[in-house]
Amino acid sequence: MSRDELTKIILPEDKLPKFWYNVQADMPTPLAPGLNPVTKQPLGPADLAPIFANELIAQEVSTERYIEIPKEVHEEYKKWRPSPLFRAHGLEKALDTPCRIYYKYEGVSPVGSHKLNSAIPQVFFNKIQGIKRISTETGAGQWGTALSLACKMYDIEAMVYMVRVSYNQKPYRRIFMEMYGATCVPSPSPLTESGRKALAENPDTPGTLGLAISEAVEDAIGREDTKYSLGSVLNHVCMHQSIIGQEVKLQMEMVDDYPDVVIGCCGGGSNFAGIAFPFIPDKLKGKKVRLLGVEPAACPSLTRGVFAYDLGDVAGFTPLLKMYTLGHNFVPPGIHAGGLRYHGESPLVSQLYHDGLIEARALMQNDCFSAAQLFAQTEGIIPAPESSHAIRAAIDEAIQGKEEGVARSIVFNLSGHGHLDLAAYDNYLSGKTEDIEFPEEALKESLKTLPQV
Ligand SMILES: Cc1ncc(COP(=O)(O)O)c(C=O)c1O
Repeated sequence: MSRDELTKIILPEDKLPKFWYNVQADMPTPLAPGLNPVTKQPLGPADLAPIFANELIAQEVSTERYIEIPKEVHEEYKKWRPSPLFRAHGLEKALDTPCRIYYKYEGVSPVGSHKLNSAIPQVFFNKIQGIKRISTETGAGQWGTALSLACKMYDIEAMVYMVRVSYNQKPYRRIFMEMYGATCVPSPSPLTESGRKALAENPDTPGTLGLAISEAVEDAIGREDTKYSLGSVLNHVCMHQSIIGQEVKLQMEMVDDYPDVVIGCCGGGSNFAGIAFPFIPDKLKGKKVRLLGVEPAACPSLTRGVFAYDLGDVAGFTPLLKMYTLGHNFVPPGIHAGGLRYHGESPLVSQLYHDGLIEARALMQNDCFSAAQLFAQTEGIIPAPESSHAIRAAIDEAIQGKEEGVARSIVFNLSGHGHLDLAAYDNYLSGKTEDIEFPEEALKESLKTLPQV
């Protein structure tokens, strides 16, 4: 079949990559070290050991280009991987564009998003260390669901702090987690010191990912049997997600194509890193591939933040990371893409953006929802509101290609489905979705509290 006749590009199971790709091996500027939040000295493994499993700490600082995926994790991946790469014929036709649009569909995982790619190895490495319980935060609920399932696979107890605004917007996500046997509470919660403090200061707070992280880390520090697990931002999470982009490269080879632009939405940065980083070596060798991260205009860490050391959470339990940040006290408006409401950005994505290897764009939520609706009507899949940011950017690239008479090859990451986000779409369809102006004043205030390093 010719390239243009194919709709599903399916990689055989025996071609599932056996290694994760670690972009730290190829960074033109090495990553600035994480710092101890109290001493401000570079972190050593002893700083992280109370929080994370040892193998994950080793991966966090590794500069090996390829790290082998354990056999047990590889077997679990096979339940849904390799995931399909689709050619968006319907969307192309609706846009009447000469561009070729492809999307990598991560919503085929049992939990409906890319998050399981990292949840499984994270829980696996905790299991082999004898950990009995894992605490975590979740924004949209996708990460919490993924961690809950992975914990059930390895018989570990899961404790999930879910950002309150999403907890209220998406009751079915809590049920999803509870089906896997996890406990899920709204954050801020009365269960931790950080939660009680936030509730005392503002009983009506919508919560933030930064605050939910504080609660989950506090929970882990306070118990011998518990470690913490983070669903994005960190180097090892971005590396686990590299399975996505490695598969995409093989799938594009199958149709004898190569992307001009690779697009992903950016919350903490992991699904974008996952699809984009495996293209970095090609780019460094001179290939003209653009890597585009898309964030919400209401929480634009890359496009409006500063590149500085900041805390990953509100209460100050996490290391200081050098990243693009809006300040750890920034409370993003309660937009529907809850998974993109994080004040910072992965240090790896941040450094590569700073070095000009990555581009970024910020979009309003109504534009993203209209793109999601066009996508649903032409391709059939209702996307997660987070992923709709990547769809909007892909559509804009395809329209621009048409205007310029250039047949670009566009690949984007459809990081998850939106089957549990229908309340957000209901709001959109009834004209209730607001385009929230970026709160510049709140940003100025929040940046004042950046740690002095
Ligand atoms: C479907 C989906 N896509 C994207 C994201 C953003 O996270 P990240 O930037 O780590 O991929 C989330 C986070 O919850 C998500 O649920």
